Amino acid sequence: MSSLSAHLLEEIRELPAKYPQPRSAVMPALDLAQEEVGYLTTEAMTEVAAALQLDPGYVEGVATFYTLFHLQPVGKHCFYVCTNLSCMLRGAGEIVDRVKGAAGVREPGEVSKDGLFSYEEVECLGACEYAPMMRLDHGYHYDLTPEKIDALIAERRTPAAAAQAPGPLPQKPKPRARKAKSG
Ligand code: FES
Repeated sequence: MSSLSAHLLEEIRELPAKYPQPRSAVMPALDLAQEEVGYLTTEAMTEVAAALQLDPGYVEGVATFYTLFHLQPVGKHCFYVCTNLSCMLRGAGEIVDRVKGAAGVREPGEVSKDGLFSYEEVECLGACEYAPMMRLDHGYHYDLTPEKIDALIAERRTPAAAAQAPGPLPQKPKPRARKAKSG
């Protein structure tokens, strides 16, 4: 039996036509598979490879290279906290500590007892201007504070929120206007 649903495999088969290089479809395809299964099993990666007519070793190589892909189960809500330079200078360490404490996990990849949360420390997500920042449930969250982390976790602990599927990626906010120099 297939580990990915028939409609998802159909969606994956249509992806290459959207890219100048058909192989570029591998990342969105893996993203879709991970979304459906929760993490990338060997079976799921094999089915993605077959659907895209790619070598399974190539697909697995992509899946193992990027930290946003998981080969083990993760929490329903995974915090990807940027711990690169700009974010660290603006308090990412404190954000990681609050995520760990509030979610009830001790290290990257560990899943909280209720299965709701896990976290990863990731490289620059390209939004340094809004440091410290992270990705959560396919959305970016900017200018983080420990209080914002508490609120995000509390929202996801309510039964209604826990039942909701993750939403689409929101747009990045417009760059901040520079302050006019005085004098
Ligand atoms: S260093 Fe964190 S987004 Fe760039």
